Amino acid sequence: MTSARTIPVKTATANYPVIVGQGLFPEISRRLGLNQKPRRIFVLTSPEIWSLWGRQLLAALPDSSAPTALFLPAGERFKRIAQVERLAAEMAQAGADRSALLIAFGGGIVGDVGGFLAAIYMRGIDYVQVPTTLLAQVDSSVGGKTGVNLTAGKNLVGSFCHPRAVFADIDVLQTLPDRELRAGLFESVKAGIIRDALLFRFMEKNSQAILRRDPEALERVISASIRMKAGVVAIDERESGLRMILNFGHTLGHAIEAATGYRKLLHGEAVAWGMLAALRIALDRKTVADDQAERIEATIAAYGPLPPFRTTAGKLLDAAGRDKKNRAGQRRFVLPKGIGDAIVAEDVSGAEMESAAQWVLEKARR
Ligand SMILES: NC(=O)c1ccc[n+]([C@@H]2O[C@H](COP(=O)([O-])OP(=O)(O)OC[C@H]3O[C@@H](n4cnc5c(N)ncnc54)[C@H](O)[C@@H]3O)[C@@H](O)[C@H]2O)c1
Ligand SMILES: [Zn+2]
Repeated sequence: MTSARTIPVKTATANYPVIVGQGLFPEISRRLGLNQKPRRIFVLTSPEIWSLWGRQLLAALPDSSAPTALFLPAGERFKRIAQVERLAAEMAQAGADRSALLIAFGGGIVGDVGGFLAAIYMRGIDYVQVPTTLLAQVDSSVGGKTGVNLTAGKNLVGSFCHPRAVFADIDVLQTLPDRELRAGLFESVKAGIIRDALLFRFMEKNSQAILRRDPEALERVISASIRMKAGVVAIDERESGLRMILNFGHTLGHAIEAATGYRKLLHGEAVAWGMLAALRIALDRKTVADDQAERIEATIAAYGPLPPFRTTAGKLLDAAGRDKKNRAGQRRFVLPKGIGDAIVAEDVSGAEMESAAQWVLEKARR
């Protein structure tokens, strides 16, 4: 291990470390005491990630744990309960008991499915997250939300279940496609806008080093993003209040993903469009200063380009209405107040949403 930072996550129900750094695989055994107390290890991963990084991970796990790889094909369409049943059956077949440890080794999809599998296999076994995308490192591996999709919508079945630890290894990001890296970075820009002005300023000034994957720059962005999320989750684990600010850019972002059939844009890209739309609403209400709004827009652009897409305002509003984060009859919407500060507005009108949606559609047509 060359360097590492540890960020504690402490909630009402959990207390675990997130370790960020390079060369972290050997830390998994060390921190979990796997050499002292042998236990069976199951690694949930995708074939692509396993072929790139599996050998290194295996080399760092004790032979006595007889590590067994379980595979989930890449793609949102495999984030389904049928896959969870198949994986549980494979674990049972391979003799996994309650003392088994599951390692979720992949992007957010592997993390969400792996966490859910660990939550329900024999009523719950230990798991750790070893996220391999930037999005999974800065967002999905922290906070304990796990689950799968239904035809009726994303993440509709799941459980809160925290990992024992998270190992965010910057080295694995070397093989991440550029577009995936940029998409994940939008969640970090979001973290900066809603709650961490220093992170925002760092990302504003250092986009080149970050996009070049300079390890020090990445470590700083990743650890600050995690610290922001850990701080919010510590206060509001179940999303009854503050945690909602994490949904900045997500109301219209999710609507854009749904209206374009989840094919055109990556999640982070849709969120970037959604953040621009929310910024429009705040500008129209004059609740954000022009110069702050300009910096936010410019920084989102620095991590682009955002792919174009086409749909209608009607479809976006329909999809936003179905967003499970809306309370019946009310448009709850996270609006930026300034860099490092956001509020949850309960009174955003249909007309305001429509005008923001029209603005985005105009920009996204190109
Ligand atoms: N639980 C939460 O709180 C939470 C938060 C945000 C998002 N999510 C979920 O996360 C999922 C999206 O996660 P994602 O963006 O990581 O996508 P993903 O898991 O689909 O991974 C993206 C792609 O990158 C590939 N990949 C992963 N790591 C790689 C590496 N190191 N090198 C090369 N290729 C690599 C994967 O095989 C995949 O094709 C969604 O299902 C979303 O709902 C969950
Ligand atoms: Zn997101």
